[in-house]
Amino acid sequence: MTEQLRSMVRETTLSTKDLIYPLFVVPGEKKRKEISSMPGVHQMSVDQIVRECVDVKTLGIPAVILFGIPEHKDEVGSGAYDENGIVQRAIRAIKKEVPELVVITDVCLCEYTSHGHCGIVRGNEILNDESVELLVRESLTHVQAGADMVAPSDMFDGRVRAIRAGLDQSGFTGIPIMSYAAKYASGFYGPFREAAESTPQFGDRRSHQMDPANSDEAMREVELDIHEGADIIMVKPALPYLDIVRRVKDKFGVPTAAYNVSGEYSMIKAAGRLGWIDEQRVMLEVLTGIKRAGADLILTYFAKDAAKALAT
Ligand code: PBG
Repeated sequence: MTEQLRSMVRETTLSTKDLIYPLFVVPGEKKRKEISSMPGVHQMSVDQIVRECVDVKTLGIPAVILFGIPEHKDEVGSGAYDENGIVQRAIRAIKKEVPELVVITDVCLCEYTSHGHCGIVRGNEILNDESVELLVRESLTHVQAGADMVAPSDMFDGRVRAIRAGLDQSGFTGIPIMSYAAKYASGFYGPFREAAESTPQFGDRRSHQMDPANSDEAMREVELDIHEGADIIMVKPALPYLDIVRRVKDKFGVPTAAYNVSGEYSMIKAAGRLGWIDEQRVMLEVLTGIKRAGADLILTYFAKDAAKALAT
């Protein structure tokens, strides 16, 4: 069979339009610092982020998701819901220069708290309801700054409903929510925690992230989030959980996103650098596999590399 014919009967087509590129914003100016465990990925100051977004747009990638590293961290993560916080400033700057680019924001407190947990901590406990209130405030400041969509990543109970109500009350009824609905307690987030400087100072996130051994639980979490008003459902990480992506897509038929997380990226980069695998080939195989499993959208640090590869 010729390549032309093969492409005519191909079931799955990976497109640059499926991709969302994660970006890490830091305070300062002209800052561009590579994350050692994630070659090709940088923490960038707002001016650099804007330049990066121009490139992203030119490559045909439709959307970015922003993570912020604030100047100061404190017990209650104040930087997360400050209207002049790092992400809020980045959103305004991007929307001014590249208004067509879809700006999504990660809504969580872990990058902003001194203890690195996703919410308010008392003793050894993370307080659900108090934390959710702050996530609502964080979401509102993002949307007021111009964000097109918010993506709560904490996994606290009731946060989608609360954020939906908060946005609606402020007149943002048309702003969708992409919920990190099936988020596993995973070792694959390691490099991200270097990038976002958000390693928990004590304990871990197992109280609110899911056990990798569970699949039915993911269905219940997703169902709840859809019920609470989530517009897009995310499964995270992607590769060890492709069965979950497929189940979610088959059962609920909602727009489904998969997060090809930091550790999944770093492994391929590392093996590619050692000459053990063909990096570009493996990258495209992995992204195609995630799409084939049922993902409509893929959050990936490979977005720029993939866009370049797909354009040739
Ligand atoms: C939480 C958040 C995390 C990631 C995305 N959002 C870290 C965590 O849950 O510990 C990880 C993404 C990645 O590993 O690329 N704000």
